[in-house]
Amino acid sequence: MIPLTMRKPLAMAALLAGLCAAPLFTISAQEPNHPKKEHHPWDDKSLSPDQRADMVVKEMTLDEKIRLVHGTGWGVLREGDPIDPDSNFAAGYVAGIERLGIPGVNEADSAVGLRMAAYQSRYATLLPSTLGAASSWDPAGAQLYGDVIGRELRAWGSNMSIGGGVDIMREPRNGRNFEYAGEDPLLAGTMTGNLMKGLQAEHIMGDIKHYAFNDQETGRDILSANIGKRAARESDLLAFQIAIAISDPAAVMCSYNRVNETYSCENDWLLNQVLKKDFQFKGFVLSDWGGTHSTVKAALAGLDQEEPEDIYFGEPLKEAVQKGEVPMSRLDDMDHRILRSMFATGIIDDPPFPRSVVDPFKGRDDAQHIAEESIVLLKNENHILPLNAETVHSIVLIGSHADVGVLSGGGSAQVDAPGGNAIDPHPGSAYWGETVYFPSSPLKYIREHAPNAKVEFNSGDDTAAAANFAKSADVAIVFVNQPMHEGMDAKTLSLPDNQDALVSAVAAANPHTIVVLETGGPVSMPWADNVAGIFEAWYPGIGGAEALANLIFGNVNPTAKLPATFAKSDDQLPHPVIAGMDLKPQPHEVETNLGGHRIRHNEMRLPPFDVNYTEGAKVGYKWYESQHIEPLFWFGYGLSYTTYEYSGLKVDGRGREVTLTVKNTGSRAGAEIAEVYATLPAVSGENYKRLVAFDRIPLAAGESKTVTLKIDPTLLSIFDEAKDGWKLLPGDYKILAGPSCNNTPLTAGFHIE
Ligand code: BGC
Repeated sequence: MIPLTMRKPLAMAALLAGLCAAPLFTISAQEPNHPKKEHHPWDDKSLSPDQRADMVVKEMTLDEKIRLVHGTGWGVLREGDPIDPDSNFAAGYVAGIERLGIPGVNEADSAVGLRMAAYQSRYATLLPSTLGAASSWDPAGAQLYGDVIGRELRAWGSNMSIGGGVDIMREPRNGRNFEYAGEDPLLAGTMTGNLMKGLQAEHIMGDIKHYAFNDQETGRDILSANIGKRAARESDLLAFQIAIAISDPAAVMCSYNRVNETYSCENDWLLNQVLKKDFQFKGFVLSDWGGTHSTVKAALAGLDQEEPEDIYFGEPLKEAVQKGEVPMSRLDDMDHRILRSMFATGIIDDPPFPRSVVDPFKGRDDAQHIAEESIVLLKNENHILPLNAETVHSIVLIGSHADVGVLSGGGSAQVDAPGGNAIDPHPGSAYWGETVYFPSSPLKYIREHAPNAKVEFNSGDDTAAAANFAKSADVAIVFVNQPMHEGMDAKTLSLPDNQDALVSAVAAANPHTIVVLETGGPVSMPWADNVAGIFEAWYPGIGGAEALANLIFGNVNPTAKLPATFAKSDDQLPHPVIAGMDLKPQPHEVETNLGGHRIRHNEMRLPPFDVNYTEGAKVGYKWYESQHIEPLFWFGYGLSYTTYEYSGLKVDGRGREVTLTVKNTGSRAGAEIAEVYATLPAVSGENYKRLVAFDRIPLAAGESKTVTLKIDPTLLSIFDEAKDGWKLLPGDYKILAGPSCNNTPLTAGFHIE
């Protein structure tokens, strides 16, 4: 048990999740729990998952019903806590029911790859951040992303992923944006849904999180995100709706925060009414770690599983059922949903054993492919890029440990670097909040691409020395970084550690300066006008440096486009300062189960506060357009080494289908992401456009293709609060198409009576 005096004044969950440090002794990983194969009537695969689940529920005792609706403790996440003998060291474990052939569930953090591999002397592939992957606008790439995670979870012996973040980017300084998929509900929902599809195809249960409005980390366990129903449904909730419709995920994780004053995990509107009724979500709702706050209220509001403990859904739930405060039918529904997901995803019919080792080369190749589709070219003055390996004689690389590695994101999305952190190797898993670099060296791969050039590195620690170093080189490439992790937001959009000054100094010394950003999300770039080239590489994953070198030298043509708008500065944002940033932590009483003992104690937390979403549904580009603000880079923007021409936009009379032609007018093969937006009739009150369709179109040099894209009517509708449903307004609709949200050369219209 950890003495409470040793605790830092952090939010409970952040603290507890963060206590996973390097083990002091070797732990032998366990085979997953796989009940002995006995025949049960529900083994019949010709029955539907619902029928099979119902058959199991009928056989379950009350204790067994309770067992499936809570976790068995913090386990590996909290030093000293007991680990269930059948757990496979994932973040959470739910005990199985052997006599009924129901396996235990290892709920594993795996947002951008599997967490805590080093803890078990295992390897896991670090993929590009999901935000990066969303920049590909490539649903097939998203499925591949999910497939990598799914197959590595299988190898590990885990049967459930608890990744799948889809909170839309309302707050560009949110510490977890790198785990999400950007600011637009259609793009974020489509990419996350396809990721889940790829993952569940590996017969692993998937999860979509954090439901809902967990849009900032500051005060995440206490803040109330306040928003009207229409705005909520047309923004954050729409991303969840789309992802759920695409993938039928096994689970949805409710978030820590409150929504309109009620905790998400006991919020009847969010869980029962919207998620289960309107979205027709058939899986189960599990709480974020420590995010359950009640028994009867949460159970009746739609929470199906408490994680990671049994404070509310263990004995107290059993008693509440016995007293009739929670009807048995509701407990049966919880179990039904959990079992249905197990049958539907195949974890019972095709369990992940025997365990195996992952294929690191396949993982790296897949990660590199996704990175090549993810890295966005934002500026290319005078065609400085791609660099010509034949004519460039000297290149200097500056900053961000570009000699040894690429940056990764932290918190529960942290993947362990093979061989340890490239800038601070140590045994075991990464520490909470550690800035971890992966051994994918830009210096090495840039040298490989330009064997005849002198390629050198400078740390960038001394700005004047770095500028001097850059002066005489043909090209200077400055790497800048923004380390981000769960539990913390960036205070501003500015790069940390004086890196803006570094870029400015190098750019002043060398007119051929290219900047490579390794950031969790958007940052400001006061030097943007003074540099020749800019790449946004996000956190590019274990194949990141090779991908980047391929893009820099033109072996791969950039195709990615921004999944979020980049503001010029914080004062352009709807909330120039993050709500709660200035508040002081206060003692807050919490109950927990430490080393098997239930205790109540005080923790330092921010006091309750409100985040009023005054911008409503106007998130990202919708905000800038509606306020007539010119940001630094718009949503959907990204350059290529070739050029494209758009023509021939047609829309059918009901706005269900658009056709357009894109031609590659340059001399290189590429893939153009065509974006289709719509504006609604004036009566909607909306003075901004919405993304309604997109397509990634591969085109050889000179090739032209005509594509037809479907538009889902929901994307053209408003959410009518009075009717509690979607409504297509009568009037004139405009369709706009082109290469980015502020560049839509094609327009067409249709009218709805
Ligand atoms: C995070 C979740 C994560 C869980 C388990 C929480 O702190 O918010 O995203 O899955 O911990 O590690």
